[in-house]
Parts: sequence; C-alpha cells; structure tokens
Amino acid sequence: MSPFRLTRTLPEDATDAALRADVLNGLTRTPKTLPPKWFYDAHGSELFDRITELPEYYPTRAEREILLGRAAEIAAASGARALVELGSGSSDKTRHLLDAMPELHTYVPVDVSESALRQAGEALVAERPGLEVHALIADFTAGIRLPETPGPRLVAFLGGTIGNLVPEERAAFLTSVRALLAPGDALLLGTDLVKDEAVLVAAYDDAAGVTAAFNKNVLFVMNRELGADFDPGAFDHVALWDAEREWIEMRLRSRTAQTVKVPALDLAVDFAAGEELRTEVSAKFRREGVTAELAAAGLDLTHWWTDEEGRFALSLSVAG
Ligand code: SAH
Ligand code: AVI
Repeated sequence: MSPFRLTRTLPEDATDAALRADVLNGLTRTPKTLPPKWFYDAHGSELFDRITELPEYYPTRAEREILLGRAAEIAAASGARALVELGSGSSDKTRHLLDAMPELHTYVPVDVSESALRQAGEALVAERPGLEVHALIADFTAGIRLPETPGPRLVAFLGGTIGNLVPEERAAFLTSVRALLAPGDALLLGTDLVKDEAVLVAAYDDAAGVTAAFNKNVLFVMNRELGADFDPGAFDHVALWDAEREWIEMRLRSRTAQTVKVPALDLAVDFAAGEELRTEVSAKFRREGVTAELAAAGLDLTHWWTDEEGRFALSLSVAG
C-alpha cells in the first residue's frame, strides 16, 4: 500500500454547493458574513503560510516554542500510535510532534485545502519512510469519519484555529471531537490567549499587507468559483478587537456604494458606502474558558502548557 493516500470524504460538487449556500446565506443577511474556511484555496493557503512568518504574527512562533519544549511530554502522555490533525495546513509545526513520536504508525492530516494536504503529505512520506500518511479532504465542522488506524489516537487541533469558530460552533465541534475519542485517546488543542489589544490588532493588520491580501482572497475565490465581479480594490481590510467577546474580527469594508453581481446564484448584492462584511473571528482564550468549554463537551483537561511569555497555550484533554 502506498504510504500516502488522499481521501475526499465529500463529493467535489459538495464543496461547490456549500460555497453557494454560504455565500447566498451570508451576503443576503445583515450584517453580511462569510465563514473563514473559504479563504483557503491554494493561494489563500500560501498567504496563510506567509502570515506565519510575519514579525507581527506571534501565534505560530509561540506555539512552536511550546511544541519544541513539550513534544516529548505530549508524546509520553498520549502514547499515541496514530496522530489525527484537524486543519493541518502545511503540517510544519507538526514535525516537532512527529520527531518525538518514533512509534507513530499513521498520520491523518485533515483539511479543506487539497493543495496544502498534497504538498505536506508528499513531503512527509519522503522525509519519514515507514510513516503511513492518510490525508482527508474534509470539513471539520461537518463531522468527519476517520479511517481505520491503530490506537491510541491523539487528535491535534493546532494554530488556534478553534478561535475561528464562534462559541456555538465551538461547542458543536468539541462535542463531535469527543465522539471521535475512544478510551485512551486524547485531544491536543492550541488556543491563542487574551493579551494587549495593540499586539493583537497588529497581528491581524501587518505592515506588509499580507493579512489584507489573505482577507481579500475570499473575494477572488467568489469571483473564480461563482463568476462574481467583486473588485478587491473597492474594499478595505479591517481588523478590530471586540473586548466584550474577546475576539478579533476581520472585515472587508466597502469603499463606496456598489452592487456586486454573483451570476452563479443569480444574485445582486448591494453594499452601502462603509458597509462591512465579516470574514473571520479569531477568539482569544483564558484557561478557565478553555477548561469550561472542554468540560461542556465531556472532555477533562489534564495538561496546560504556555510559551515563556504566556501568549499561547496548548492543552491536552481526555474523554471524561
Ligand atoms: N494548523 C496549521 C494551519 C492553520 S491555518 C497551523 O497551525 O499553522 C487553518 C487551516 O485550517 C488551513 O489549512 C485551512 O485550510 C484549514 N481549515 C479551515 N477551516 C476548515 C474546515 N472547516 N475544515 C477543514 N479544514 C479547515
Ligand atoms: C488559522 N487561524 C488560527 C488564523 C488566526 O489567527 O485566526 C487565521 C488568520 N487570520 C488572519 N491571520 C491569520
């Protein structure tokens, strides 16, 4: 059997149907919103990788610091023979975990971005002969079916991507993850922590404009996939901190009053001058909140590690 397998758990046209439904639903409501998963076509995945190297974007470096220091502890605590990673992207930081898990049999990266899965999966099988890599193209918010693997399993959800879900979505998501865990399995969760507003806003509004390009990429995706005529130059990138909800919001603000056509949906969308489309939330957490959200889904937090500066946390939890 080939050490790299790629499984599409949804038919290709399901992605198309999901995009149509999200755009129709999100652009015809007030305020307008879109789910962040549509950022990640091949170009969006590349832009995200560039974000992780920006001086302002600390989460990747902070999480890498924790993984470098704690990978052996995580490996020992989980005893995992299979690592399932949700929203794996480039699987770059994951290599620190893999290095600490010589007994690992199977790695299951799960992502909506086929290009990211192929690139990461093909590199990994070349780097680690003997490791089975079974990539899944799947939406982790839609409930995933895992391939057969040896146990115990460690399910990793890194990068703080859980913060891109709003609280109700997080509750449903964690409940679905809990259902994947057999006795002896564990969840490794990366959460970005609440900190100074200026540091947070800069991380989402970098001087080089890479995050602005990432944000506007969703307009290119709708133009290509749905024949829409968004002019990305007619929108401004906005990043702001919502202190009450403790999340960053990324928005696209229309510079003028304009009507955008979306032929595939037979839709014309009016934007008032200054009207904003919410494209992402990125929630920031505190230890008590993470513990409570896990507990509400039937998960008991057993370990909590942060980087030296206390910017980011990794937690390990098990089914309660
Ligand atoms: N884990 C990596 C990448 C984070 S970027 C890191 O820590 O750097 C978020 C990743 O999640 C992207 O690769 C994106 O394609 C994927 N993603 C976003 N929403 C998703 C969804 N609903 N289902 C599956 N993958 C998703
Ligand atoms: C993937 N996710 C955790 C990133 C974040 O920080 O919320 C996505 C991102 N959006 C803007 N910059 C990075």
